[in-house]
Amino acid sequence: MINELKQLEKNALAELQTAETEDQFSNIRTRYLGRKGLLTGLLRNIAQVSDAEKPLFGKLCNELKNLLDARIEEALQRQAIRNKEDILLKEKIDVTLPGNAIKCGRIHPVIQVRREICAIFASFGFSVVEGPEVELDYYNFEALNIPRDHPARDMQDTFYISDNVVLRTHTSPVQVRIMEKVRPPLRILSPGKVYRPDSDVSHTPMFHQIEGLLVDKGVSFGDLKGILTAFLKKIFGEGTILRFRPSFFPFTEPSAEVDIRCVMCDGRGCRVCGQSGWLEILGSGMVDPAVFQNVNYDFEEYTGFAFGLGLERIAMLKYGISDIRLFFENDIRFLKQF
Ligand code: FA5
Ligand code: MG
Repeated sequence: MINELKQLEKNALAELQTAETEDQFSNIRTRYLGRKGLLTGLLRNIAQVSDAEKPLFGKLCNELKNLLDARIEEALQRQAIRNKEDILLKEKIDVTLPGNAIKCGRIHPVIQVRREICAIFASFGFSVVEGPEVELDYYNFEALNIPRDHPARDMQDTFYISDNVVLRTHTSPVQVRIMEKVRPPLRILSPGKVYRPDSDVSHTPMFHQIEGLLVDKGVSFGDLKGILTAFLKKIFGEGTILRFRPSFFPFTEPSAEVDIRCVMCDGRGCRVCGQSGWLEILGSGMVDPAVFQNVNYDFEEYTGFAFGLGLERIAMLKYGISDIRLFFENDIRFLKQF
């Protein structure tokens, strides 16, 4: 029996010597040490060993068992480390390779201009308020002294939602909404989207305006001219050529529109300015007493001025863009220039 044990040890060690894979080592473990394994079998037959040899036989069996256990365990661990090294080698990252640049979004040029204008007027003491784009006929027209069937309605073609509800054609209704809530004096600025069925190189059916309103005691047309001139020189530069042109709005009296010398043709006349050499960027005027009456302001005590400017027009002039529709085509090659 002891000889058999010695033989078994020799075989097992030889097999361990040639084994390489995890599976082979596991197999050796099962074959010798498993429940039906060879060494286990020998031990089970201990009854056949003479009483004198039993202690020695038992001891040798245990020693062999421990030896094989230790060898196999060691081999498996070595194998595990080697596997991990293989994986690390395979997954090695070359940190010197150029990376993929992350594409970054940009602020839309119209929004950039809006922020810039709001900041300039904030420095003049104006605060920003907003109003709804879907507006009651009353605020968009009626309260601004544009009654139904008045020819002035034709100045601004209108998208009607129903008889009484429109997509606002300008930001001027915010004037009325704010004056209904706040007593004078006030200085507000209201940016937002407006809608008109219009489309060519300088008109789109949706565009942005910023409304301004200042009401106080003793406000004059000189204040209007002073503030708008200061603003326009800030945004376009000191040398900007501009003109105040008498105009008409039902909600202001007197009224003026401001034009900027067309930057596309330098005033010679082109497609963008309709051959006039000028581009209209805002409407303005002294608030009409009829509007003050609609919001219960005392027009004997207070006067004020208002203006509404076209954001896209300002962005076109500022950046030399010749077609307003480019702003809304979402062509990334256009937008990423700003
Ligand atoms: C108005 O909308 C008046 N509410 C402005 C106003 C406010 C006057 C307060 C007096 C007091 P107008 O229709 O002219 O006015 O439009 C104002 C500006 O919006 C224009 O000067 C122009 O710059 C811009 N604009 C008008 N229509 C379009 C359009 N379809 N696409 C792009 N910009 C436009
Ligand atoms: Mg106009």
